[in-house]
Amino acid sequence: MERRSFFKICAKGTLLIAVSPYFIEGYLKADDGRLFKSFNRVKLLDCYGNPLKEDILQEETTYVFNYPYASTPCFLIKLSEPATKEIRLRDEEGNEYMWKGGVGKDKKVVAYSAICPHQLAHPNPNESFIGYIPKEKKSMAYKKGGVIVCASHLSAFDPKMGAKVLAGPAKEPMASIVLDVDEDGVFWANAVLGPAKFFDYFKSFKPELKEFYKNIRKAKKLVSLGAVVKPLEIYSKEVVIY
Ligand code: FES
Repeated sequence: MERRSFFKICAKGTLLIAVSPYFIEGYLKADDGRLFKSFNRVKLLDCYGNPLKEDILQEETTYVFNYPYASTPCFLIKLSEPATKEIRLRDEEGNEYMWKGGVGKDKKVVAYSAICPHQLAHPNPNESFIGYIPKEKKSMAYKKGGVIVCASHLSAFDPKMGAKVLAGPAKEPMASIVLDVDEDGVFWANAVLGPAKFFDYFKSFKPELKEFYKNIRKAKKLVSLGAVVKPLEIYSKEVVIY
């Protein structure tokens, strides 16, 4: 599918497809057991409701899907080079965990919770102050491109290395989403690895979540059907990253 069509269809809305919930055990493990949590196994979908395969993804583009909860945004990025394997990372308290690397044909595809670990900036339907800066561009937060930047207080994270902190006030990596690719080449989300901020996010953004999801229970609902992947510029009306 051409990129333009993908954008056009994404703008029109979403279509969900039922898939069986499935839990992966022992796929990845944080050393202290607290930084890895399995959620529903959820198929990623394009905007037509078709299972998402790698050939539809443009390199160096920020895509967003909601997982593991109906209102928690995640970034999906196909990098222009393979991600680094087996990166040891630490949360703010010093608990260590292992990020295994990218998935897909050349291990270029990565996914992270799009909630900034500093003060929880995140994309919402109105705007986003956080996103990926392509390799050839620069930002105020970091001297090179190929990084995720949060424009709220200029933190930068390395998506090739488990979203470890490169610059700014953030003290821990962005949490990563554990993906796998099935035998048909379709992407699935399975779990969250690293310092997820979901409960702080639900608490801090209650009014915003009520506005967008009508009631907080809907916002906190676990995703069990497919998760639709949209370009960030479609997910949020305005994207402000510098
Ligand atoms: S909220 Fe992202 S750097 Fe402060």
